[in-house]
Amino acid sequence: MSAPANITLAVTGASGSIYAAEILRTLAADTRVTKINFVASDSALRVFAEELELSGRNDLAEKLLGAPCPKLQHHAETDIGANIASGSYPTDAMIVLPCSMGTLAAIANGLASNLIQRAADVCLKENHPLILCIRETPFNRIHLRNMQLASDAGATIFPAIPTLYNHPQSTQEMARQFVHRVLAHIGLPQPDAYQWQPD
Ligand SMILES: Cc1cc2nc3c(=O)[nH]c(=O)nc-3n(C[C@H](O)[C@H](O)[C@H](O)COP(=O)(O)O)c2cc1C
Repeated sequence: MSAPANITLAVTGASGSIYAAEILRTLAADTRVTKINFVASDSALRVFAEELELSGRNDLAEKLLGAPCPKLQHHAETDIGANIASGSYPTDAMIVLPCSMGTLAAIANGLASNLIQRAADVCLKENHPLILCIRETPFNRIHLRNMQLASDAGATIFPAIPTLYNHPQSTQEMARQFVHRVLAHIGLPQPDAYQWQPD
């Protein structure tokens, strides 16, 4: 099977902007990926400002990448008429990183009331991989129930929990290893990914 080329990346208002920055850079540099549809929620922009001291709306992705990226298309969270809102559009996979409990709840319950939720809803109905990198601690029973609902509908619950067995030397290295695991999961293994080597 060929590697997924058309990826939707959604960023929501959970903690973990560094993951979003890292996955965007990796997707931009990956020549197998020919199209990135990028959507950030309003809350994601707020968290970016808090965690990375980075502001921006239509140019957030370019700011993160440090240069324009021709294969990247920026969408407003409110643009419910965007390409990825339609089942006729050939998305290969969608990743929500980080995924807030609010967006998880909306996806799990089929609300589809903004572009992120609608694009996720489309992935579920069209059987495209949908990876929800949820982040919260601790979980309440509503969160747990919504994870079960989303998983039953076909989403992969892929918690934004970094590994330590690879001895990361920085938060960026931690984020990178997590991103590599997410991308390997959708069929985009990265050449420099850490692999566990037992003694
Ligand atoms: C700095 C900051 C960190 C946050 N961290 C989380 C988090 O880790 N998980 C979560 O579910 N919500 C978190 N929130 C709250 C969400 O941003 C909020 O529930 C928002 O309505 C989610 O909207 P969205 O799903 O449309 O992005 C955080 C908010 C701020 C300002």
